[in-house]
Amino acid sequence: MIRSVFKGAGSALPANCVTNQELAERVDTSDEWIRERTGITCRHIAGEGETTASLATEAARAALADAGIEASDVDLIVLATATPDSTFPATATKVQHALGCNGGVAFDVAAVCSGFLYALATADAMLRSGMAKCALVIGAETMSRILDWEDRATCVLFGDGAGAFVLRAEDVAEDGPGILASKLHADGAHGELLYVDGGPSTTGTVGKLRMKGREVFRHAVVNLAEVLEEVLAATGHKPADIDWVVPHQANLRILDATARKLGLPIEKVVVTVDRHANTSAASVPLAFDVARRDGRIKPGDLVMLEAMGGGFTWGASLMRV
Ligand code: UT7
Repeated sequence: MIRSVFKGAGSALPANCVTNQELAERVDTSDEWIRERTGITCRHIAGEGETTASLATEAARAALADAGIEASDVDLIVLATATPDSTFPATATKVQHALGCNGGVAFDVAAVCSGFLYALATADAMLRSGMAKCALVIGAETMSRILDWEDRATCVLFGDGAGAFVLRAEDVAEDGPGILASKLHADGAHGELLYVDGGPSTTGTVGKLRMKGREVFRHAVVNLAEVLEEVLAATGHKPADIDWVVPHQANLRILDATARKLGLPIEKVVVTVDRHANTSAASVPLAFDVARRDGRIKPGDLVMLEAMGGGFTWGASLMRV
């Protein structure tokens, strides 16, 4: 059967790392509050010249090197972001040009923190249908540029970065590698709980991120547990079969609660929220890349990827590495 097979990953982080203590000097917060409520200790913040496209390009180059695949072999780039370099053209096309890919298809998807799961499922469908042969799937964000740095309830939670996967359509055995199933959901009824208060066709400005954190938290735990069960049911796997869960990194307490609902030990959950904070669409591939490079995620492992974000949007994918 034709599956989208994982060939390599890469990631990129801005040079500047900002600690909780440094934020406490700018807004009325404390290292203790941020650690206790979120698990975050620091986050990377893009400096001058670092953009979503530049971080995405760096992550994509690292992923191609890891996969041993030339940029000229890539015929599909799907880039998830809520913070594109410009309203248009798509940031994916900037990355395509910077990498020197020879044509093919390149576009962005907007599903905020679930963006990487949406991009992965889209690329997977295109690879399995024969529309493309080799894909770069990227999650990249400069969330710092849309934060209200006076709002302590949001500005301490987010960070910048990018992560990328290389996937290739390959004929594999039933128990072979590849993406086994993905499930995506959206519910626009909750748009006002997490949004940006601007946009090209409304205010004509970029706007700032606004969030009712406590309510988002409540929905996240319920929705994520449901979609994880759904993917397991679709593939006939049990929670105990999962080697690693790579979740969207919004809050350590959400990761704990989701693992507990599934009956999985927290040791099987890859945690990077402590050092990256919430990097929106970049968080899942960034966390995956960390766990793969430090030797935790190995070929043959069964890995569950999951995320929930503004919209609301949420989704999960089960992949045999
Ligand atoms: O990535 C997309 C999905 N996003 C998420 O999943 C985020 C989900 N939500 C969360 O992670 C948590 O709700 C937060 C971390 C955002 C907030 O934690 P919480 O335990 O839900 O706190 P809260 O919003 O209920 O606020 C508790 C208190 C409030 O003070 P009062 O009203 O109890 O006096 C806030 O004003 O904490 C106060 N507070 C702060 N205090 C110090 C809010 N932000 C801060 C801060 N420093 N940075």
